[in-house]
Amino acid sequence: MEKLDKREYCGWAEEIYQKICVKMKAQAQRVGTDIPYIPENGRYKDMGNEGIHWWTNGFWPGILWQMYHATNEEFYKETARGVEKRLDQALNHYSGLDHDVGFIWLHASVADYRLTGDEEAKERGLKAAGVLASRYNPAGQYLSAWNGNRPGHMIIDCLMNTPLLYWASRETEDPRFALIAERHTDTALKYIVREDGSCNHIVILDPVTGEFTDNPGGQGYGKGSSWSRGQAWAVYGFVLGYKYTGKIEYLEASKRVAHYFLANAAITDYVPLLDFRAPKEPVYYDTTAGAIAACGLLALAEVVDIFEKRLYAEGALKILKAIEKKHCNWNPEEDSIVDFGSAKYHREEDREVPIIYGDYFFIEGILRLLEKSFLIW
Ligand code: GLY
Repeated sequence: MEKLDKREYCGWAEEIYQKICVKMKAQAQRVGTDIPYIPENGRYKDMGNEGIHWWTNGFWPGILWQMYHATNEEFYKETARGVEKRLDQALNHYSGLDHDVGFIWLHASVADYRLTGDEEAKERGLKAAGVLASRYNPAGQYLSAWNGNRPGHMIIDCLMNTPLLYWASRETEDPRFALIAERHTDTALKYIVREDGSCNHIVILDPVTGEFTDNPGGQGYGKGSSWSRGQAWAVYGFVLGYKYTGKIEYLEASKRVAHYFLANAAITDYVPLLDFRAPKEPVYYDTTAGAIAACGLLALAEVVDIFEKRLYAEGALKILKAIEKKHCNWNPEEDSIVDFGSAKYHREEDREVPIIYGDYFFIEGILRLLEKSFLIW
């Protein structure tokens, strides 16, 4: 595959990378093996035992592993290992786990194993993959997202969990994990992606017959709307599915959603709205959707034909630059970089705030531009 000459993007990205290094060094000293989510008054708090299963708990070790890979500084590795060990408390408590074991242990343990070959990390990753595979519903051919009497719910976010299954198949030389990931992705393509490139967040299938039941609103404005982070998960998730399977329909789905995402992001100067189909007022943004989409666009740029690459690479660059210009905090005395992330449309307390995964994907995007990242997914 002919490569895009990224040198023209590197000047800006190198400048931002230097700022990331200063900020993360200071933050890692302060945060250490605490598990952060949303800072208050410039400081992260530890998620503690009550929050140990929360789906975002892998992003801090993910940042630390990316920084270790980029800088080779041991401190990042040691800190990431400390968080990984703390997360055993979650891994060893089955009933608290759901499909987001992918988000957590791809970052906490598979990343460790990929970089260091650590056998304990591999065991943790395989255990998490077993948990994820156990959520497969063969009637509807999907991975059940959540616990609590919702066995028919499948959600777009889950595409980002499936790389754990592809990894497990390669490690064990057992195709079952990858087959589950592929079947789930086929079902997501069938029910979640709409013809115009927008996506549902949630689809409910009958867990006994597998028949389509409903597509209620999720973390966006409502039923039929277009939650921007969901669209970003689709851009990135389908191109990852393509990378692991070579199935052209996954690549086409990723491109279709990418075109829809870029067209909508352009309307607000590349900082995406929280929902592309919410009422005009009030206006809410979600930078995390932008950072995730940027990483997906850069992944797309790597796999498409040379003539197509520019659209995706420049789209990603525009989003990352817009986020940096308007919403980045480079003060090393304060935790977190990217502000204006939103977890959910109808909840004020975590709307337009800094959130750990905004930082993770922003950092991955900058490292991707500089070819300093490694693939956690
Ligand atoms: N569950 C993933 C998200 O909120 O995007």
